[in-house]
Amino acid sequence: MNDLTEDKIRAALTGTILGRDLIEIHDVIDSTNKRAGELALAGAAEGSLVIAETQTAGKGRLGRVWHSPAGKNIYVSIILRPNLDPNRVSLLTLAAGLSGSNAIAKQLGIRPAVKWPNDLLIDGKKICGILSELEMKQARVSHVIIGVGINVNMDEDDFPPEISGLGTSLKIAVGQKLDRAKILSGFLDELEKNYFELSRGNTDGMLDQYRRVCLTLGQTVSFQKKDLLIEGIAEDIDRTGELLVKDHSTGRTHRVTAGDVNLLKKG
Ligand code: BTN
Repeated sequence: MNDLTEDKIRAALTGTILGRDLIEIHDVIDSTNKRAGELALAGAAEGSLVIAETQTAGKGRLGRVWHSPAGKNIYVSIILRPNLDPNRVSLLTLAAGLSGSNAIAKQLGIRPAVKWPNDLLIDGKKICGILSELEMKQARVSHVIIGVGINVNMDEDDFPPEISGLGTSLKIAVGQKLDRAKILSGFLDELEKNYFELSRGNTDGMLDQYRRVCLTLGQTVSFQKKDLLIEGIAEDIDRTGELLVKDHSTGRTHRVTAGDVNLLKKG
């Protein structure tokens, strides 16, 4: 029996915006983010969701492909119309990562760590990736698509060789098959709470919680800045969501906005 139907999702939701209006569920789609972007441009309400059983061109960060096997995982895109300054929109991405970690901790009793900005990891392996896409209109944010892929019921042999060893699933972590509608609605409820907090201007509360679950802080990291590979300690996250990295060789602090940060070793 399908565990990811509109009725089941609606029955499990407790919030007031996310998933309350339009929920589109596709058997196959190229990318839920792409479809949600089209719906948002056509005027879809805030909180509308696009879900798929499989994606043929799931989009990952930095132009990568998101592996999307059928019937096992959650692939969802959420349309938001935040009243936020454009330079604070990356806080929404951090809030989405934090919400995923909180939702899984509440439901399953295991707390995924967040690798800045928003990869969720269990035992160092990725279980969730988030891709936020922003659309501006006349210098204002017109909508943001939060695209979330959660590896729920994948088995070890569902991972293709190129990501095997790097990814895991909730089923592997807890040793049993899970109900995707419950995991998804738990995530949406947490995201809605954090979204309301940010919309009220309570950035500090969200960021304090985020810092507590972010495994990047205090670690030696490396990242690419133009053609230089920089190594330093990830010291903090500032009020716009940027990672502050103190350069080992110059002592200077870099603000990292996006891209890939590699974890090297503790402190
Ligand atoms: C990452 O690279 O970590 C981000 C992955 C985001 C994947 C999700 S799956 C649902 C949504 N639709 C997409 O095309 N991408 C996101």
